[in-house]
Amino acid sequence: MRISVFGLGYVGCVSAACLAGMGHEVIGVDVNQVKVDLVNDGRAPVVEERIGELIAEVTRSGALRATTDVAEAIGLSEVSLVCVGTPSEPNGSLCTTYLERVTEQIGAALAERGGRHTVVFRSTMLPGTCLNLLVPILEKSVGGTAGVDFGVAVNPEFLREGTSVRDFFDPPKTVVGELDRASGDVVTELYRGLPGEVFRVPVPTAEAIKYADNAFHGLKIGFANELGAVCQALGVDSHQVMDVFLADRKLNISSAYLRPGFAFGGSCLPKDLRSLVHAAQRADVSVPILSHVLPSNADHLQRAVELVERTGKRRVGLFGLSFKPGTDDLRESPLVELAERLFGKGYDLRIHDANVSLSRLLGANREYVETRLPHLAQLLADSVEEVLDHAEVCLVGTKDPAVLSALPQAGGPVIVDLVRLPDAEARRAEPGYVGLAW
Ligand SMILES: NC(=O)c1ccc[n+]([C@@H]2O[C@H](COP(=O)([O-])OP(=O)(O)OC[C@H]3O[C@@H](n4cnc5c(N)ncnc54)[C@H](O)[C@@H]3O)[C@@H](O)[C@H]2O)c1
Repeated sequence: MRISVFGLGYVGCVSAACLAGMGHEVIGVDVNQVKVDLVNDGRAPVVEERIGELIAEVTRSGALRATTDVAEAIGLSEVSLVCVGTPSEPNGSLCTTYLERVTEQIGAALAERGGRHTVVFRSTMLPGTCLNLLVPILEKSVGGTAGVDFGVAVNPEFLREGTSVRDFFDPPKTVVGELDRASGDVVTELYRGLPGEVFRVPVPTAEAIKYADNAFHGLKIGFANELGAVCQALGVDSHQVMDVFLADRKLNISSAYLRPGFAFGGSCLPKDLRSLVHAAQRADVSVPILSHVLPSNADHLQRAVELVERTGKRRVGLFGLSFKPGTDDLRESPLVELAERLFGKGYDLRIHDANVSLSRLLGANREYVETRLPHLAQLLADSVEEVLDHAEVCLVGTKDPAVLSALPQAGGPVIVDLVRLPDAEARRAEPGYVGLAW
């Protein structure tokens, strides 16, 4: 394919050289004449493993050259990859100035060129940036419609500086955010032959994936370092701890606990986080991430209360009460906390949980209910229908099949989904349905 690459920094330079190495015909564009001259001299404008040799090779063969002339590049290509910088503004917001400018330039050149061209944004940008900011700029400058007169896609890159050439040829995944099928086909074709799964998703999803990745990577490093500092203060070798931690592929290094849902609770997680943070504080070890896990969880629970408040309705149903499915354990159940808060705010509440009836509760559980939710007995309903008949708004905190099959599709009470119901994707578009975090 004939490709132009806008921005010859770390991402653009590596993408341009590697795509040329795969056999595409590539023309790099940068506003910086020094970078353009370097590439045309067969030298890399960035320091990266293998990039020097690769650029020398692909410029010698004629597969890669560079220019400062946007119209020339657009005239010689059928697809543009936009790799300009998106730095932070002083207040932390995303600077889109370079993106906007290059999009205007590409649009103006496309208006002259005619013929189908696909603009692919590789820069990291917040969800909504492409469709709400960049597509309107393109449509205005081209004088046409995206997805009809020209293609648009978002293709975030996941290469690590230092090993980016190696990563390009062995990527963890390829993400194609496609405005329309034809635009996605162009991006998929660019990388044909490379290993790794290809995910074709809506444009804003592709934009968000990059943030999920980077936020998680930062969180992982911060978590490991905080845990290391606590272990050190407690005289434990953190690497020995993490060797065992990492060997657990069921609960730790796995997809467990990584899907948005309701707040956590139970008899272990809150208690153990509290004592770990307390031990760190006693040892004068600052652990901002660990000490904000419980406050984050409390805020998440509060979101559910606010969703009920926003409906303006007073008669509330709650499905689920124990801290997780298949148990009657109510200690530190976030659903108990939720019920208690709603009850305290004067909502007319009915609760159903097939595993929980006061007569069956024993020992610690019974005591827990008696101290934390003394009015539970009068709120408990024996059947799903009783709750549905009562409620104007219904919180679903369980995937109990009896509850799922009884939930009305539309009409009836407003459904506040705390568990991501199996048909949530379809329901999201319906009035009378609210997801907690989706
Ligand atoms: N560096 C990384 O490892 C990495 C990884 C993944 C994603 N990203 C994202 O990719 C994007 C680019 O990052 P980078 O590190 O390569 O940035 P960079 O600052 O190294 O390079 C950006 C280049 O764009 C050029 N440029 C600016 N405006 C231009 C225009 N109108 N026309 C042509 N060229 C123009 C600049 O001169 C510069 O050479 C950012 O959004 C970044 O967040 C970076």
